[in-house]
Amino acid sequence: MKKLSLGVNIDHFATLRNQRKEVYIDLIDVAKTLKKMDVNSITVHLREDRRHIKDNDLENLVKANILPINLEMAPTNEMKKICKTLSPFACCIVPEKRSELTTEGGLDVKNNLSNLESILFDIKQKKQIRTSLFIEPDMNQIKLAKKLGVNAIEIHTGKYSNLFEEGKYNNELKKITEAANFAHNLGLEVHAGHGLNLRNVKNIIDIKSISELNIGYSIVAQSIFSGLENVIKMYKKLMN
Ligand code: PXP
Repeated sequence: MKKLSLGVNIDHFATLRNQRKEVYIDLIDVAKTLKKMDVNSITVHLREDRRHIKDNDLENLVKANILPINLEMAPTNEMKKICKTLSPFACCIVPEKRSELTTEGGLDVKNNLSNLESILFDIKQKKQIRTSLFIEPDMNQIKLAKKLGVNAIEIHTGKYSNLFEEGKYNNELKKITEAANFAHNLGLEVHAGHGLNLRNVKNIIDIKSISELNIGYSIVAQSIFSGLENVIKMYKKLMN
């Protein structure tokens, strides 16, 4: 099995910066710190309403080439064009609702099949861009993702994370484990993310078919108390 990679979602560094309409926090400095701490990639979600990451943030991060950029994006023509123009290392297609505070569930691949097929067809013209779909731990969604020819799936761990707080997570963890093993056996790379934190991440780390974790909010939140470098050290310690 491949060594587990850590991708850090830096959207909420931008949220803080935007709150005061300041030019800092500098996302390039964040990227440099993450590189220094041996983080493997950076995730950014360019939302339709640009509430955190802005177009020029994405351009600057891709140009600076400090760490591989995983662009999370809705399956729209606008995002497809941006992705093809900037050619990030990877793109992860996610569902997006204007009213949600964060990505609430996985993609409904079945009911979006022709749109996803067309978006992925275009993105895959740029052969170097790795593609992935953010989905629930559901075998049917995984089979369709495989049919669509993506390199990876990212399993939505939001439900597990919420249930963890209530101590009722066993069924959801089992679902994630089975889905991850199923996808891995189909030859897909398996990533996971959403709602993961220092308390609940260990169970997900223990699933050996998962090769990448993407974590954002809890890293930004814990950094207030411990500092970014120390928080990354804490995650790395659990992952090793
Ligand atoms: N992965 C994906 C696809 C996401 O949409 C998000 C949230 O933007 C994350 C990972 C990170 O989630 P969190 O901020 O809860 O760690």
